[in-house]
Amino acid sequence: MNNVQSAVTLSNGEQMPWLGLGVFKVSDGQEVIDSVGTAIKNGYRSIDTAALYDNEEGVGQAIRASSVPREQLFITTKVWNSDQGYESTLKAFDTSMGKLGLDYLDLYLIHWPVKGKYKETWKALEKLHKEGKVRSIGVSNFQIHHLQDLLEDAEVRPVVNQVELHPLLSQVELREYCKSQGIQIEAWSPLAQGKLLNNEVLKAIGAKYGKSTAQVIIRWDLQNEIVTIPKSANEQRIIENADVFDFELTPEELEQINGLNQNQRIGADPDNFNL
Ligand SMILES: NC(=O)c1ccc[n+]([C@@H]2O[C@H](COP(=O)([O-])OP(=O)(O)OC[C@H]3O[C@@H](n4cnc5c(N)ncnc54)[C@H](OP(=O)(O)O)[C@@H]3O)[C@@H](O)[C@H]2O)c1
Repeated sequence: MNNVQSAVTLSNGEQMPWLGLGVFKVSDGQEVIDSVGTAIKNGYRSIDTAALYDNEEGVGQAIRASSVPREQLFITTKVWNSDQGYESTLKAFDTSMGKLGLDYLDLYLIHWPVKGKYKETWKALEKLHKEGKVRSIGVSNFQIHHLQDLLEDAEVRPVVNQVELHPLLSQVELREYCKSQGIQIEAWSPLAQGKLLNNEVLKAIGAKYGKSTAQVIIRWDLQNEIVTIPKSANEQRIIENADVFDFELTPEELEQINGLNQNQRIGADPDNFNL
């Protein structure tokens, strides 16, 4: 892994960049067009959106406006909770693809494990995958027990689990389980939505390398083989977040960052998520 385009080979053989741009809370229209355009111009090849984010149209416009060939990009979107179920997921997929203006998707995720629904939703994802409309299918916010349940009768195994993961919530057990199952872990809110940026441990490590706390966290993700998708709508910070391939944290520094874990969530608990 030596640049922003370095990719992990998923268990289905597809390549997914280790680093991508998240676009949660980035407005559709000019803001998301500019963010995605800036990211692609600066080497990013992976963009993470969702039907919920309501900016798939702008993401699609930015992709078409870029000079990078489609096959070099890795685009993720997600089926929202209220659309879960077999037929409704197929319909939601068509809506997302219409907005994105793409003829295939790289990764489609079940956004949250909606009780009583996610297995039917998974069947729809399997169909989309078999038809070649989606190269890889995966899940988001799945705990170990959700994965065990899904794997019981999945015909196509999920290749990614995108979960809240940052130094305050390092998800060690889930990471180990996913690794044992060939499921790549991907971190959402890797920067803890800004909460960790003044952390003294991270600041001290960053000072040693002339790097920001955000860059230290992103580096911690990468060295732990965690796909990461920091969000920024600011040009300088989009560039900064990808400028993490010229330094390496020592094993001691990785341990120091591991020591920040408090099992503290910013987002919802997948087991108590009120739909
Ligand atoms: N699957 C899920 O349920 C789920 C849930 C949440 C998020 N996600 C995905 O994960 C992505 C990332 O998570 P997130 O957006 O919640 O939070 P995040 O990436 O942890 O943090 C984003 C915040 O940090 C700021 N920031 C970014 N880079 C910075 C830097 N270098 N220095 C200082 N501040 C910086 C951003 O502000 P500026 O924009 O002003 O730079 C923004 O306020 C989302 O965009 C979305 O794609 C998925």
